[in-house]
Amino acid sequence: MQTVFIKIGGSAITDINKESTAKKEEIKRLLNEIKPCLNKKKVLVGHGSGSFAHIPAHKYKLNLGLTEKDSLYGASVTQSAAAKLHRIVVECAVQEGLSTFSFSPSTTAVAESGRIFNWDVSAIEKALELGFLPITYGDVVLDKKQGVCIASTEEVFRALSKKIKPEKLIIGTDVDGIFDKDPKLSPDATLIKEVNKNNIKDVLNYSGKSTKIDVTGGMKSKVSHLYEISKETGAVCQIVNLQKPGRLKDAILGNEVIGTIINAN
Ligand SMILES: Nc1ncnc2c1ncn2[C@@H]1O[C@H](COP(=O)(O)OP(=O)(O)OP(=O)(O)O)[C@@H](O)[C@H]1O
Ligand SMILES: [Mg+2]
Repeated sequence: MQTVFIKIGGSAITDINKESTAKKEEIKRLLNEIKPCLNKKKVLVGHGSGSFAHIPAHKYKLNLGLTEKDSLYGASVTQSAAAKLHRIVVECAVQEGLSTFSFSPSTTAVAESGRIFNWDVSAIEKALELGFLPITYGDVVLDKKQGVCIASTEEVFRALSKKIKPEKLIIGTDVDGIFDKDPKLSPDATLIKEVNKNNIKDVLNYSGKSTKIDVTGGMKSKVSHLYEISKETGAVCQIVNLQKPGRLKDAILGNEVIGTIINAN
């Protein structure tokens, strides 16, 4: 069975205007798009943080590491906020009858300058092998150089991909894909359907930050992470809009769907 990683973006499952507010009905709808595909694919889910951990992480400048006297406490607050949304996602999965298994990167991963390295992911591999639906998320991670860092779900996927080697990564967010400019700021933006070695440099120039409070670099960092994953593992990545019902399910099943494909090979 093919292995697929699916990101449920924080921008789609939280109310970005209200701190620490989850959209439970949206979370359940998305989990129910994944559910019927589980007899065809092995799936690992990662979710972003939206209005949960991005806000304290920004307040305590944690993407720079432990730089101030209240940084340690800030890391605790941020870890707690990320875990709070995680518990909600896992609880929704259990309520929808999914055999989920939860994995927090902050308890086992270590990074160096923001990049996770040498992560023992044998427990996650075992959970996948047994038929669980592992759920992980973007989290605070202890860092050899800077004390702590914020590992986005894309960074978590980059580290996991090295060992688990999914065939496909589906990255769900709140826009249709990568555009030639931020569609949230420019309604006339044009969707880029495919990113490959011929246009990656231009696409990185087009891709910007998030319009929300965000500490992991918005679309630009997403593109560079996904391109790197595709280049290193041969996987194909696809960005889709989770706010449009049915797109996630179609992407998992390989049906044609509006979005951006990232294929470095
Ligand atoms: N060229 C672009 N094309 C598409 N989106 C862009 C572009 N440049 C910037 N963006 C912004 O990137 C945002 C998506 O990234 P963002 O990190 O906010 O969401 P997410 O990754 O789903 O959330 P989280 O980080 O909480 O998981 C879009 O809402 C959009 O405003
Ligand atoms: Mg993001």
